[in-house]
Amino acid sequence: ARSVRRARDGALTVGGVDVRDIAAEFGTPAYVIDEEDFRGRAREFKEAFAEAFGDLCGGADVYYAGKAFLCTQVARWVHEEGLHLDVCSGGELAVAIRAGVPGERIGLHGNNKSVAEIEAALRHGVGRIVLDSFEEIDRVAGAAQRLGVVAPVLIRVTVGVEAHTHEYIATAHEDQKFGFSLSGGQAAEAVRRVLEHPAYLSLKGLHSHIGSQIFDVSGFEVAARRVMGLHLDVAREHGVELPELDLGGGFGIAYTTQHDPLAPKVLAAGMAEIVARECRADGVAVPRISVEPGRAIAGPSTFTLYEVGTVKEVLLDGAATRTYVAVDGGMSDNIRPALYDADYSCTLANRRSEALPALARVVGKHCESGDIIVKDEFLPSDVAPGDLIAVPGTGAYCRSLSSQYNHVPRPPVVAVRDGVARVIVRRESIEDILALDVE
Ligand code: LLP
Repeated sequence: ARSVRRARDGALTVGGVDVRDIAAEFGTPAYVIDEEDFRGRAREFKEAFAEAFGDLCGGADVYYAGKAFLCTQVARWVHEEGLHLDVCSGGELAVAIRAGVPGERIGLHGNNKSVAEIEAALRHGVGRIVLDSFEEIDRVAGAAQRLGVVAPVLIRVTVGVEAHTHEYIATAHEDQKFGFSLSGGQAAEAVRRVLEHPAYLSLKGLHSHIGSQIFDVSGFEVAARRVMGLHLDVAREHGVELPELDLGGGFGIAYTTQHDPLAPKVLAAGMAEIVARECRADGVAVPRISVEPGRAIAGPSTFTLYEVGTVKEVLLDGAATRTYVAVDGGMSDNIRPALYDADYSCTLANRRSEALPALARVVGKHCESGDIIVKDEFLPSDVAPGDLIAVPGTGAYCRSLSSQYNHVPRPPVVAVRDGVARVIVRRESIEDILALDVE
């Protein structure tokens, strides 16, 4: 988080609040979100895309991908900053509605939306439903007919670009569950079928999302070129210039110093150039572009604050030892290291130490040896029970992927801003856990 500072006595402050005060008032572990950081990144995306596409098509829409992290307050921040909101389930939609996000600012995703989810979205007047299968075309048309509305829809296209962190692979066929494939002609067939229901479906455009935690702009470029190809085919074949085009999310962030994230400005400029070039060549109007960043907005805004419980020297082969620092949370509040082999860093948060740094492994309290939060980190060698450890970059896909494994209650989300800390998602209690368990 951008407002993190080290005070004179070595303790961290965030948003002007001392982390020791956060720990004392709200307990640990806790997700600590810097509200200004989150809002600032949201604004940066909005401004970068508005500027890059302003002259081309009157601007662009940024949909914050709520799957990265969503709660009522965050949905409000997103709306206040002028962004749209991408939800992918009835639960996320319920949060958006409760936060007062107007329907036209919401997009609904998902590869297997239920009829109830589709109807809830249509009743709230969502601005778009992204269609992901032939069954869904009929399902959304049926729901629209029952409710007496016309559903605005996009078609999710699989462009055959698979992106993984540093590289992308352009393949003819992508073996995964999302979207209509471009190469097999499925996407073109989906367009045809949607256009068969003019009374119930209004085709707004195409959608492409190629992966997550991507650093290489060329993957987006190839994807944009391919999806633009279909966009132009639709204009030629059906005489329909689709008004929108969504290029998805997936913009990478720096979890450790090894990552070099793309600036929103660079991304926006790169995308604008390709879209403009393709449209000019074919003489069609530039569609209104949208993107869906989740991680790049939420991820860096948050750190997790833990308290150290035990420090153990474990004997490795020979004489070497490894220091295991166990904290009061773990894989239930951050599954990403265990699930994706994700790297995090950490720092001693409550004091300065003059002790020599030593390599340590930070682990959680769960009954599983894969319960690792930070695999290797230099921490002062005098780290001891009672110390606070901060793990940065936990704003995306940590709380949202959290569990109650071992019946460990989920941590709260504490928002800091201008020297004030407040709970925006409260800590779970043992009573919360027992509440669903029938006696
Ligand atoms: N749009 C669509 C259609 C998506 O499927 C996703 C992410 C996004 C946007 C946002 O992607 P982002 O900008 O946040 O990378 N749990 C994994 C990430 C799963 C991403 C799923 N889809 C993780 O923790 O790395």
